[in-house]
Amino acid sequence: MNLKDLYINFFKKRGHKEIPSAPVVPENNPSVLFNTAGMQPLIPYLMGKPHPYGARLVNAQKCIRTNDLEEIGNTTHHTFFEMLGNWSLGDYFKEESISYSYEFLTKTLNIPREKLAVTVFTGNEEIPRDEVSAVAWRKMGIPDERIAYLGVEDNFWIAGDSGPCGTDTEIFYWKSNEDAPKLFDSEDNRWVEIWNNVFMEFYKSSDGNIKELEKKNVDTGMGYERVVAILEGKDDNYQSSVWNNIIKKMEDITNLSYDGHEKEMRIIADHIRTATFILGDYSGIKPANTDQGYILRRLIRRAIRHSRALNINQDNDWEKEIAKIIINQYSKYYQELEVNKETILSELAKEKARFSKTLEKGLKEFDKLINNLNNSLNKEISGKSAFKLYDTYGFPIELTEEIAFEKGFTVDTRGFKQMYKEHQEKSREGAIGKFKGGLAGDTEIETRLHTATHLLNAALKAVVDKNIHQRGSNITPERLRFDFNSDRKITKEELIKVEELVNKWIKESLDVEIIQMTKEKALKTGMECVFIDKYPDIVQVYKINDISSELCGGPHVKNTKEIGTFKIIKEEASSAGIRRIKATII
Ligand code: SER
Repeated sequence: MNLKDLYINFFKKRGHKEIPSAPVVPENNPSVLFNTAGMQPLIPYLMGKPHPYGARLVNAQKCIRTNDLEEIGNTTHHTFFEMLGNWSLGDYFKEESISYSYEFLTKTLNIPREKLAVTVFTGNEEIPRDEVSAVAWRKMGIPDERIAYLGVEDNFWIAGDSGPCGTDTEIFYWKSNEDAPKLFDSEDNRWVEIWNNVFMEFYKSSDGNIKELEKKNVDTGMGYERVVAILEGKDDNYQSSVWNNIIKKMEDITNLSYDGHEKEMRIIADHIRTATFILGDYSGIKPANTDQGYILRRLIRRAIRHSRALNINQDNDWEKEIAKIIINQYSKYYQELEVNKETILSELAKEKARFSKTLEKGLKEFDKLINNLNNSLNKEISGKSAFKLYDTYGFPIELTEEIAFEKGFTVDTRGFKQMYKEHQEKSREGAIGKFKGGLAGDTEIETRLHTATHLLNAALKAVVDKNIHQRGSNITPERLRFDFNSDRKITKEELIKVEELVNKWIKESLDVEIIQMTKEKALKTGMECVFIDKYPDIVQVYKINDISSELCGGPHVKNTKEIGTFKIIKEEASSAGIRRIKATII
């Protein structure tokens, strides 16, 4: 029996009712495009509304997360995944939840206790240390050295910035063949998180206030693809049984082996699988230029572009062949895929036909642009060119950015958005900001992230090296991404200091001033700027005290206190000599 069946049966036997997966598009939650966790469709019930199936629930929920599309291609990221979860809506709480998890892992899955470790909440001014969970784990036989107490970043869970929330206990599995060390170190990446048990007893409102919920709930989540790979001993998720058939099909289609073509095959497999689930959903999403339809379009077009690298003949129905394997594999659990099979196959083919018509010409146009830029100092594709690629050749802006990045260029996405806006106004089509999560307008959150980017730049100079400069920047409503020169990794201690410094500046409520000056003067004063030659003679400088002065088109917040709490998500290499930080505000 596979993990999904084992999980669901285990909890059914313990009084839980199996609920069907909700559609991928949330029914009553316009703040997110897709469900990103099993608990999302259950929010009203976690808030106290009685659930028609009772107080103990279990399911596998279809989840989609597309905010970091560029991560797809590595061994562990997927845009679609299934989340196994069990819930108690005011029924059992910490002890029983921990005991169920322990029993499932050690008895049903036969994982030896020696390979398990856990984290629990260490406590802060508002919420006490979670000794109840620690005691419950000890009772199960988990020794003290395998229980780590961590803070809010690790052991407090909330979806987004408001809603039901609470402390959690995370369960880790030792995936290496070597014996697990006695002392658990959650930073050692041979310990991998496999299950998250959240004890939802609070509600956080958007003004940051926390109050107790009517009932104490449990919300647990286990990422299916991830845990299957771990249990099968695979470091590469795509080599687990979840993906075997899909990858095999890709090998057949291309006559190539997965070895040596991993990245392209992963991207295509992942994106076609997600597209299949979106098209197969009851919410009836089709490729479009807005909202979920835009994400779907991007996924399919990105898969098509990568299929060219594998020399897949576009006249073959490769996309349908892959989708058929996926439908076949999953329709036992998600009958909607079988019901909507014809729609899935025909929409995939239609979108391929639409894009294939212009892709070739668009890539030629791209090469022309790059050749022209190669002769200039400016390494940025203009907003106007990016708009032409979008409007005439159907290149989603993110695809243009990705291709540009591969060739060592950046894209003026703000200029693109401006052109897009003008075009929208001209053709009187819909309001700006329609592109939630896609071509988002300059929403409030983006403005806040934009100012946070300036502070991050300044903090990196102050903490790490004054010679650090921006090499690229990209902002979505979910996060900022900042590329900068550095020939070494930024240490964890430095990242903590950078984060603290940015938050200190935010707390100091500093005004953000706009100053106009000549380009020459800006150059002389050593103003932070990326490509000086593209700016007009009179430039605009955004100045925050003596902390930061950057030539910039804006928009920015008026005062740093509007930003919120700044949080670094990750630091990684971007390309040779360039590091990348992703951060968000909460
Ligand atoms: N909501 C929690 C998570 O997504 C547990 O299900 O990790």
